Amino acid sequence: MFGMTDDDDAIELLKRDHDEVETMFRQYEEIRDGATEAQKKDLVAQICDALTAHAKIEEQIFYPAARRALAQPQAKGLLDEAAVEHQTLKDIIGRLEAASPGDPLFDAGVKVLSEYVKHHVREEENELFPKVKSSDLDLDAVGRQLAERKRQLEGRRRTSRSGSRGRRSRSEDRAATGASPRAAH
Ligand SMILES: [Fe+2]
Ligand SMILES: [Fe+2]
Repeated sequence: MFGMTDDDDAIELLKRDHDEVETMFRQYEEIRDGATEAQKKDLVAQICDALTAHAKIEEQIFYPAARRALAQPQAKGLLDEAAVEHQTLKDIIGRLEAASPGDPLFDAGVKVLSEYVKHHVREEENELFPKVKSSDLDLDAVGRQLAERKRQLEGRRRTSRSGSRGRRSRSEDRAATGASPRAAH
């Protein structure tokens, strides 16, 4: 899905995700004033699902790999900030997922999420990714891991969408990746 290919290295894959989410936010701006509540809800659900999957593959695979590859204290600071920003993103996503598009603050919530994502993406693309690129991290190998994990998450999402929109718990996610709670950040 989303034109993902196995040839993407880690940074290409993550940037492609960023671009796709940005496109969906632009679509929301375009339909915002004329769309039905159901259309809005559906597009926002797609945005939230894409962001949640993206955050997971970064937290479970890319950030830990970057942490291992980058020794400088400045890089640690960037990765710590990124982890904190993901927490804020998840809070905003959780509120939006629970809200009705009929809520007078719904559009503002989507806008705030879009601006926060823009800020976070800018830091990743302008500060973190160049550092990772100049390290000796094997970006092709990490890219394959990210693609594989993303496929698993998308498969699970399709399954849960066809039933109820159930979500796996954090402990189930950890069980799936063998990651420890600390390694998730
Ligand atoms: Fe991120
Ligand atoms: Fe990202």
